[in-house]
Amino acid sequence: MTHTALTNPQIAILDYGSQVTHLLARAIRQLDVYSEILEPETPLEQLEKYKGIILSGGPNSVYEPNAPQIDQAVFDLGIPVLGICYGHQLMSRMLGGKVEPGETREYGKADLTIVQNKGLLSNFEPRQQTQVWMSHGDTVTELAPSFEVLASTLDCKNAVIGDLNRKLFGIQFHPEVNHSLEGSKMIDAFLEVCNCDRDWQLPDYLNHKIAEIKTQTEGKNVFLLISGGVDSTVAFALLSQAIGADRVHGLLVDTGFMRKNEVTQVTAALKGIGVKNLTVYNAHNEYFTALKGIYDPETKRKIIGQIFVDIKDKLADEMGLDDTKWLLGQGTIYPDTIESGGTKHADKIKTHHNRIDRIQELINQGKVIEPLSDLYKDEVREIGKLLGLPADLINRHPFPGPGLAVRVLCAEKADLPTDNDTETAKIQAYIEAKGYQLQTRILPIKSVGVQGDSRTYRHPLAIYDHLAQYEPQKLLKLATDLTNQFAVINRVTLSLTPLSQNVDAVYPTYLTPERVAVLQEADAIFNDTLKKHDLYQAVWQAPVVLIPVTFDGTQSESIVLRPVASTEAMTADAFVLPKAFLTDYLEQLKEAKLPISGVFYDLTHKPPGTIEWE
Ligand code: XMP
Repeated sequence: MTHTALTNPQIAILDYGSQVTHLLARAIRQLDVYSEILEPETPLEQLEKYKGIILSGGPNSVYEPNAPQIDQAVFDLGIPVLGICYGHQLMSRMLGGKVEPGETREYGKADLTIVQNKGLLSNFEPRQQTQVWMSHGDTVTELAPSFEVLASTLDCKNAVIGDLNRKLFGIQFHPEVNHSLEGSKMIDAFLEVCNCDRDWQLPDYLNHKIAEIKTQTEGKNVFLLISGGVDSTVAFALLSQAIGADRVHGLLVDTGFMRKNEVTQVTAALKGIGVKNLTVYNAHNEYFTALKGIYDPETKRKIIGQIFVDIKDKLADEMGLDDTKWLLGQGTIYPDTIESGGTKHADKIKTHHNRIDRIQELINQGKVIEPLSDLYKDEVREIGKLLGLPADLINRHPFPGPGLAVRVLCAEKADLPTDNDTETAKIQAYIEAKGYQLQTRILPIKSVGVQGDSRTYRHPLAIYDHLAQYEPQKLLKLATDLTNQFAVINRVTLSLTPLSQNVDAVYPTYLTPERVAVLQEADAIFNDTLKKHDLYQAVWQAPVVLIPVTFDGTQSESIVLRPVASTEAMTADAFVLPKAFLTDYLEQLKEAKLPISGVFYDLTHKPPGTIEWE
């Protein structure tokens, strides 16, 4: 079998470090074309073989001194070029246009009006409106000669531009994310301009991967790290299919941060799919000891990753697996590599467990095999299906490698803005000016978020309204406005209980078995209630987060419900929970008599909030 689609990518994506640009590769695959992601520094001779070139978005401003560049001659190759966000600004500036800081930093949904339905917009009607996703500070204020405007938004006149003769195009927003409802039609039009063959299919990819795994593992077996989640399960099945179950040895480290009963369930499921060699190692002690007194989220993540590797090394030694005969396997999928700053120009949002330094070293030495690392979750599930795995196994919600550890927030001391009263008063005034009567508190902790391709670490805001008046759509809109407006916060949560004056942090608090046990219960009840209300499949993920925030001055903490809708986790929408669901959940929680004094419901989309809280 030949694999021309896979061996000859038709589109080169030059990566300037956007968190979402990699969705482009996926959007292009969904249009049956294979692309390749390259560094912007790739020499021109190498770019000549592609049918089209895309310059991605990125966190820089084009006029910063060290802003990443492109060889100007790329625009004279006669190959169509599409610049997106940063790429659009870079192209415009280099070809003689002007880029300036925008008057407002624009993040979120905007309405695009088609001015001319040609070029990238040949699939649209003139004057048609379509929703797009903006995430930018700078704008192209003057077009380069011979470019014309194809579409505009209210705040951004040059939102889609083109020089149709030279086949050069620029888009200010991100067509590759789901919030750009018809972005795929624009990418499709670009592929048409490039004259691409539509020859990429997932079953071909699977065959190609199996062949590649066979070559890569020649003379070696695979020692696979398993978290129990969908990805590592599919990786196990794929490797077993490629080289035989005898040659794959799985290690499931029970960190102590798994969901309630998960280790038992996962072990049974893996046995059920024909896994032969599986070691389950109980590491509760190692983890809780190492995380004693640790508060910083990145430090926590790194320690968790390191212990994982220590245990792997120890067991590999005990089992006599020397690295001339064994490769280390991981179920890493594409988005895991991006958030860890896996590409040259990307900002690091958070270190995923499978990208800590020691693993990275092994990767550099060619000692790691990651058969799913080009794929997104939906594609991994498809591969799982093609391999014959049971649906209930592959349709489970994604679960992060560090498990509940990243959902148990830690605090050394209460952490509020120095000018908390002023900030709160400003927020309160803004909310009142919008016609709402809500109690508000800035919570005395911080969580991780992402904005304009960069990491943020800021406070959540809590608002309280009577559930009787629950109007989720209005609250979601308010949450977006508030996070756009006030730099001190990156999330807005609805408190499901009245906000008393004495909201305080429980401190110092680090990771303990007792805290994890409380979260396991609250999490199990949440998931069971989602299933009972038939909502489990509608949400992408439904983390419950334990936060060291108390309402009653005791050690009792609070939880946050964080259900989201998404298709690939790079962007997500806060999922609307019906009132009946919330009432039911609160009821069940009360019956469980857990030491929980507050319950919050996270109303923040991603961006600006990440899915997990750290
Ligand atoms: P965030 O919180 O960045 O998460 O919006 C995006 C997706 O990644 C998952 N996640 C992880 N997965 N190792 C993983 O395997 C990790 O360290 C990790 N951190 C976050 C998260 O659950 C969501 O699906």
